[in-house]
Amino acid sequence: MADSITITDNRTGESLEVPILDGGIDAKAWSKLLPGIWFHDPSFGATSGAASSITELDGEAGFLRYRGYPIEQLAESSSYLEVAYLLIHGELPTPEQFEAWRYEITHHTFIHENVRKRFMEGFHHDAHPMGMLVSTIAALSTFYPEARDLTPDVVMKQVVRLIAKMPTLAAGAYRHSVGMPFVYPDNSLDFAANFLSMMWKTAEPRYDANPVLARALDVLFILHADHEQNCSTTAMRTVGSSHADPYVATAAATAALYGPRHGGANEAVIRMLTQIGSIDAVPAYVERVKQGDVRLQGFGHRVYKNYDPRARIIKKTADEVFEVTGKNPLLDIALKLEEVALSDSYFTDRKLYPNVDFYSGLIYQAMGFPMDMFTVLFAIPRTAGWLSHYMELLDQDSRIYRPRQLYVGHPVRDYTPIERR
Ligand code: CMC
Repeated sequence: MADSITITDNRTGESLEVPILDGGIDAKAWSKLLPGIWFHDPSFGATSGAASSITELDGEAGFLRYRGYPIEQLAESSSYLEVAYLLIHGELPTPEQFEAWRYEITHHTFIHENVRKRFMEGFHHDAHPMGMLVSTIAALSTFYPEARDLTPDVVMKQVVRLIAKMPTLAAGAYRHSVGMPFVYPDNSLDFAANFLSMMWKTAEPRYDANPVLARALDVLFILHADHEQNCSTTAMRTVGSSHADPYVATAAATAALYGPRHGGANEAVIRMLTQIGSIDAVPAYVERVKQGDVRLQGFGHRVYKNYDPRARIIKKTADEVFEVTGKNPLLDIALKLEEVALSDSYFTDRKLYPNVDFYSGLIYQAMGFPMDMFTVLFAIPRTAGWLSHYMELLDQDSRIYRPRQLYVGHPVRDYTPIERR
């Protein structure tokens, strides 16, 4: 049997055979046969917008791989910085390459004083840190005007700066919101430990994070580093396709991540568990979900129709963190919710399983992060993923993203002067 499909235009009887390549069919062949007839797919659920060699995930089988490496192996044995290198460069680094990469990232963690003094401090005291993050990432574009030059060496320089500066901006946003002085990066610490130092350091000369917590955060960073063509990555690629610089494109991706259907879900999970309040209240809450009154936050995924592999790793990480911090009291409610949902046909029929956000918020909360910071903690590592897609897009010399629409508005009509309306 040929690996192809045949499209027939029943109006003319004309047919076209189109090959299936890498699991897709080329829309150009379709438009050749049917010019002016568009695929209508408003949320791109059945449309491939990119040929990508960065991340492979199979929602039915429930696997996730970066550049071919299973997420379980990376979470077990790698570090976020190494994973960032893998995503950006396509291969795991040699010891020399890793040392050079670590040095470069570590030595680009400082931000221009004006970003802190004029931008950060200009925000209202109760500004959401994601709002501050989106704005200050965009502001970086004005500090590095050379970033508009999209030649590979110049792009790589901005990639290093962005990966390095995200924790500094993120911690700065937090410190501003609680009225604490800004903490400068400490080049003697590794990526996660340095971030924790910028978050929590007070009067001590050096802040040494608990190594179990620093490692747990690093694992969470690995799990969040990329997830192929999700909403924020699509925003990154869309903005990048106009050849906007990497800073403003990252700001756009961060804005997309902010929403509760995407990166904001971990915050929504904690609010939901707090609202449920006790194990006894779980069945009644699940009934409300089934009635369609509320959604079960942290459940369901556009692509995963099986247990999200990241959720499985996070559950294990949660146990390690709770050994240090004490158990998050909301954990029992979460476990009960998962148990009730997974034994109910409403959820199993719709293939709704816990996703990455179901347990990550519990860990962040146990580690002392305020809820407002949860999505920021997602944005820090996803920056490596976004930038790898940005670079891939430039490499592919892709055309500007410009979908078509089905116009369903008024046909032409004459303007009526305001006094006659
Ligand atoms: N609770 C209850 N019902 C749900 C849920 C949920 N969380 N998610 C989907 N459904 C139902 C939905 O009502 C629909 O039922 P029916 O067929 O009877 O109308 C069916 O399942 C299919 O749902 P959908 O809305 O077509 O699914 P989608 O692919 O458009 O949405 C989603 C995916 C992630 C936005 C959605 O599952 C959701 O809102 N989940 C809660 C928010 C969340 O946890 N988001 C984090 C996603 S993972 C991390 C990330 O991407 O940032």
